[in-house]
Amino acid sequence: MKLAFIGGGIMAEAILKGVLNAGIAKPGDVQIGEPRPERRAELSTEYGVETYASNSKAAAGADLVVLSVKPQDLPAVLSELKPSLEPAQAALSIVAGAKMDTLTKGLDHSAVIRVMPNTPAQIGCGMTMWTCSQAVSQDLRDLAKSVLRTVGEEIYVDDEKYLDMATALSASGPAYVFLFIEALIDAGVYVGLPRDTARTLALQTVYGSTKLVMETGLHPGQLKDMVVSPGGTTAEGLQVLEKGGVPGIIVEAVDAAYRKSVRLGQG
Ligand SMILES: NC(=O)c1ccc[n+]([C@@H]2O[C@H](COP(=O)([O-])OP(=O)(O)OC[C@H]3O[C@@H](n4cnc5c(N)ncnc54)[C@H](OP(=O)(O)O)[C@@H]3O)[C@@H](O)[C@H]2O)c1
Repeated sequence: MKLAFIGGGIMAEAILKGVLNAGIAKPGDVQIGEPRPERRAELSTEYGVETYASNSKAAAGADLVVLSVKPQDLPAVLSELKPSLEPAQAALSIVAGAKMDTLTKGLDHSAVIRVMPNTPAQIGCGMTMWTCSQAVSQDLRDLAKSVLRTVGEEIYVDDEKYLDMATALSASGPAYVFLFIEALIDAGVYVGLPRDTARTLALQTVYGSTKLVMETGLHPGQLKDMVVSPGGTTAEGLQVLEKGGVPGIIVEAVDAAYRKSVRLGQG
């Protein structure tokens, strides 16, 4: 399997680490197109992969060409790759908001895959939603799936409309969770805990609660009820959260992000 990355930034490095660690590709199977010489040197030294200033050279011979540049750099990348993609290759874009139609027309290429990952992919705990065009062969679909699995969980959808929803929930989601964690730590300090202790308590609480929902398969509301004793401390805290607009405000936040994603996709 040969893999190319166009743009050697944070997300590309996360996927690169994933595929190398999983043994899906060897360093010699990976080529990266990246404009910054220092970054090229960094990636080739660290991972032993080939790096190029030219994106079309980087893409040559790859089964999957991963487009991992920022949205503002995508038009230039599409124009550069347009004359060079072979019919047997598929382009896999992780660029937020870049629609299948934009990719297909911009590359003049029918085999395209659109992926929405999130930052926990950096430690192999990502959540990715993806879709692809009819023209992507079963082999390349399987390959894309196995590449995405190296950085966490993945869900394939037939309908592209779900990608805007995943953008609002799982791609933006880590920021919401980090905000919650930060507030929980600050709250611990507010009531008198040393900051490092508050951090340990907050992180393990979020981590353990997530695992408990996953491993028991119980509804989160049911697990919440198990923490709340009548007239107790948790009921007091929850009452303040509900008065402050949680959970309704979380629904509004995800809805606002979703609407923004749809607007951005309309150009
Ligand atoms: N980070 C996230 O949470 C997240 C989640 C889901 C999706 N995404 C998507 O993933 C994509 C990459 O994000 P990132 O966080 O990895 O960004 P990043 O770290 O900035 O990486 C982008 C890389 O592309 C390089 N680049 C710029 N212009 C280029 C060109 N013309 N050809 C080739 N490479 C070029 C940049 O080089 P320079 O440094 O020299 O500019 C940089 O190394 C974005 O489109 C983003 O929407 C990100």
